[in-house]
Amino acid sequence: MITALDHIAIAVPDLEGAIARFLEDFGLQHDGNEVVEAAQTTTAFFSVPATHIELVHPLDGAGPIATYLDKRGGGLHHLCFRTDDIDADVERLRAKGYQFTSDAPTPGAHGSRVIFIHPKSCDGVLIELSQPAEAHS
Ligand code: CO
Repeated sequence: MITALDHIAIAVPDLEGAIARFLEDFGLQHDGNEVVEAAQTTTAFFSVPATHIELVHPLDGAGPIATYLDKRGGGLHHLCFRTDDIDADVERLRAKGYQFTSDAPTPGAHGSRVIFIHPKSCDGVLIELSQPAEAHS
């Protein structure tokens, strides 16, 4: 039986730069690097708390997910990091040069506030920041 989401793998052209992003910019715990000879790779792992799987489907046949499905027919769409202060994180990451797909956070699921970092700022991966409703100040 499936017991957990073990990990999500992101192919990165610049390993040290990507480690710095997840460690310093996103504040995750770096568990270390490991050479996996059999796969001809160097891997870096980061720990995150228990997570969820989100299935996303267009509401009325329009919007960004409809566009995505038209282009690709489905697929892994984004990673989402939880934050307890989305406004501060957006300001901090903007100052570091991160580009966002909108000017300010917008309403997300469960009363959250969300914003997306542009994939070109993160090795082609769309990354969402989400502040849960209960963490609103
Ligand atoms: Co999401």
